[in-house]
Amino acid sequence: MSNDTPEVLISESDIRSRVAELAAQISRDYEGCDNLVMVGVLKGSFIFLADLSRQLKIPRTIEFIAVSSYGSSSVSSGAVRLVMDVRGNIEGKHVLIVEDIVDTGHTLKYLTGMFKSHRPASIKTCSLVRKADSAEVDVKIDYLGFDIGDEWVVGYGLDYGELHRTLPYIGIIEPTD
Ligand code: IMP
Ligand code: MG
Repeated sequence: MSNDTPEVLISESDIRSRVAELAAQISRDYEGCDNLVMVGVLKGSFIFLADLSRQLKIPRTIEFIAVSSYGSSSVSSGAVRLVMDVRGNIEGKHVLIVEDIVDTGHTLKYLTGMFKSHRPASIKTCSLVRKADSAEVDVKIDYLGFDIGDEWVVGYGLDYGELHRTLPYIGIIEPTD
């Protein structure tokens, strides 16, 4: 099934205009801030972070973090594991966590909790997509691209078993597990 061409859910041009809107909003909100750190959550956020960060009108640095909770399955284990930490010191800086998608919310909850212990000046969250009906924990998303239903989506960084990350649009596939 996962070899089929995914059905379009969010088109390339809809993504492009929403990312531009988010970049404008973030640029306004952080105007005058000279120590914004955008932290991309690998691997899924790499394309979103690349497009979003290049449209900001404010200075920013880029960090990456890697977590794992699903393994190769499409069902969340709920237990989040830190696979790679940020390299730079984030104490006293304004942190914006950039996620591809928020499903149960466990990953984003874990990350905001972890970053709080590094004593940043502020922490905000940004996600391109949220599965509106799948939340298991309450976590605030300050900048959200799109709400979707409970389907498995791929493309624009998102994968299913590491496939489809470089599709230019967000599409739906039928998971086989
Ligand atoms: P959460 O902890 O359940 O919110 O899961 C968040 C992470 O699961 C995301 O950062 C994605 O890496 C992955 N994920 C959840 N749903 C999807 C999906 O539909 N497609 C691809 N990855 C997903
Ligand atoms: Mg992710």
